[in-house]
Amino acid sequence: MVESDNLRHTTFPLNNGSGAIPALGFGTLIPDPVATRTATRAALEAGFRLLDASERYRNEQEVGEALREVFEAGEIKREDVFIATKLWNNNHRPERVKPAFEASLRRLRLDYVDLYLIHTPFAFQPGDEQDPRDANGNVIYDDGVTLLDTWRALEGLVDEGKCRAIGLSDVGLGHTQEVFEAGRIKPAVVHVESHPYLPQWELLDYCRTNGIVMQAFAALGHSSEPNLLADPVITAIAGRVNKTPAQVLLAWAIQRGTALLTTSKTPARIKENFDVSALPHDAVQEISDGIKLRVRFNAVVETGVPGFIPRGKGS
Ligand SMILES: NC(=O)c1ccc[n+]([C@@H]2O[C@H](COP(=O)([O-])OP(=O)(O)OC[C@H]3O[C@@H](n4cnc5c(N)ncnc54)[C@H](OP(=O)(O)O)[C@@H]3O)[C@@H](O)[C@H]2O)c1
Repeated sequence: MVESDNLRHTTFPLNNGSGAIPALGFGTLIPDPVATRTATRAALEAGFRLLDASERYRNEQEVGEALREVFEAGEIKREDVFIATKLWNNNHRPERVKPAFEASLRRLRLDYVDLYLIHTPFAFQPGDEQDPRDANGNVIYDDGVTLLDTWRALEGLVDEGKCRAIGLSDVGLGHTQEVFEAGRIKPAVVHVESHPYLPQWELLDYCRTNGIVMQAFAALGHSSEPNLLADPVITAIAGRVNKTPAQVLLAWAIQRGTALLTTSKTPARIKENFDVSALPHDAVQEISDGIKLRVRFNAVVETGVPGFIPRGKGS
């Protein structure tokens, strides 16, 4: 468990020797391109040193523009920022991996990424359509490629030196074990939805035992219902320690040993989210033990189709 007054600067070592990953990360899943660019800039200016992108977010170009602006301003250098992006489901065939990766690099205006993730373990029909559907609207999957085939293509990218580390996203324990056991290069990061309503203790335990960093997305509950930021355990602790509910959730995530991703288009919230400091040990324990509700906000792990689950009032 991490305890530090300097919590916001916590890093976790990567198991492949390629350095360390900042615990506190900024996600770029922002639908509006202008907002992507301004929020990415604001995040870097606020102090975030990890950006999470994806070809599926269709905004790597705007993330790249924000990075270029910040690098050209001279205060932050490329090597100061840990940049991750992800391979989408239509590019799982090994021969599609390198072109997809290189297209991401071009859009991001980078020579290398620090981390490349397989966005989901679901392979879709190979081709340029990110969301291939049949005449009935059903997703067209690709059973001609396995997750290990795709993983081996990612290992090739590491060998070529354009990608420092590789990992998995939207997987459970089964896929994590499969790739860890069979991979020549072990997954350095497993990126999954996680927060007090979905703590994923078993997966975290496996990751810790095997030197894998678990990176939690939707760390604040993605503005979804039930509202994690209004959970009585969280708001009571926030009142007690004089922090906001968001800061309590982010501190908990780091102190229990995960890296995390949070996102905001709002400059004041971006600053708030970087201003985290350690919670007292009993508050960390209270969140871990005292919150019993279990909710998965994003169903991507079931089908590979991205999207948060709309929940009406009372559901
Ligand atoms: N692999 C995957 O399948 C997957 C899926 C989902 C997400 N991700 C990654 O994880 C990142 C984070 O996920 P997420 O967007 O669900 O994160 P999140 O931080 O849990 O939720 C973001 C939402 O919370 C609001 N918010 C942010 N800070 C706040 C604060 N201090 N107080 C109140 N509300 C606040 C934001 O509103 P405003 O923007 O209006 O301020 C936004 O609506 C994504 O950007 C993406 O990089 C990956």
